Amino acid sequence: MSTKVTFIGHSAVYIESGDHRIAIDPFISGNPVATIKHNEIHPNHIVVTHGHEDHVGDTLELASANRSVVYASWEICGYLGEQRLAENQRQPGNAGGKIKAPFGWVAFVQAFHSSSHGGRYMGQPMGAIVHVGGITFYHCGDTGLFGDMKLIGEIYKPDVAFIPVGDRFTMGPELGAMAAELIKPKVAIPIHYGTFSGFLVDDISAFRPKGVEVRVMRPGESWEVGGAS
Ligand code: NI
Ligand code: MN
Repeated sequence: MSTKVTFIGHSAVYIESGDHRIAIDPFISGNPVATIKHNEIHPNHIVVTHGHEDHVGDTLELASANRSVVYASWEICGYLGEQRLAENQRQPGNAGGKIKAPFGWVAFVQAFHSSSHGGRYMGQPMGAIVHVGGITFYHCGDTGLFGDMKLIGEIYKPDVAFIPVGDRFTMGPELGAMAAELIKPKVAIPIHYGTFSGFLVDDISAFRPKGVEVRVMRPGESWEVGGAS
């Protein structure tokens, strides 16, 4: 089965595999680099790594419009429930746990960051591991570097890792390269950079992990991953 990844921009990723359409951190409205509108994707599943607005983004609108199931922290799912997202559209989880899904599974792992929405605590920030179409993706969320990325890599053996490299709020390109060397995915895709000009770095030429293929994707660009597994 072919599995296609589209980089929406910032940390927003859209994965299509057969009937399964998964949006991760769908920040589209207000995303200065996004080339699509939120009503141009139709996810039946949405994964949210943490509560910051540049990650929750259009989750509520997309989930309501597409009857998507949302996988996120207990606290984010609770918040979405208060916003009238139906119980059968919420799949709460937390770091260390795996959730079975119609497309495969989602596992949450730790991230070193913060997580709030409108000043409200939204649980732990997390990375998400998504297995679909025989391919394992590790979306690191927003995080600093941590040594257990090596362990996460050994456990889940991700084919593709989305690694934040924009500095200031996450790793920069150099530490992001160290993260890729710890995780050892087949392909590393840099995210969370160049979005808010002057705030996150634009130049990620130092993102050169040894032994890991780097795939830089422009916002709106798609990639058929099929061959990677
Ligand atoms: Ni954040
Ligand atoms: Mn962020």
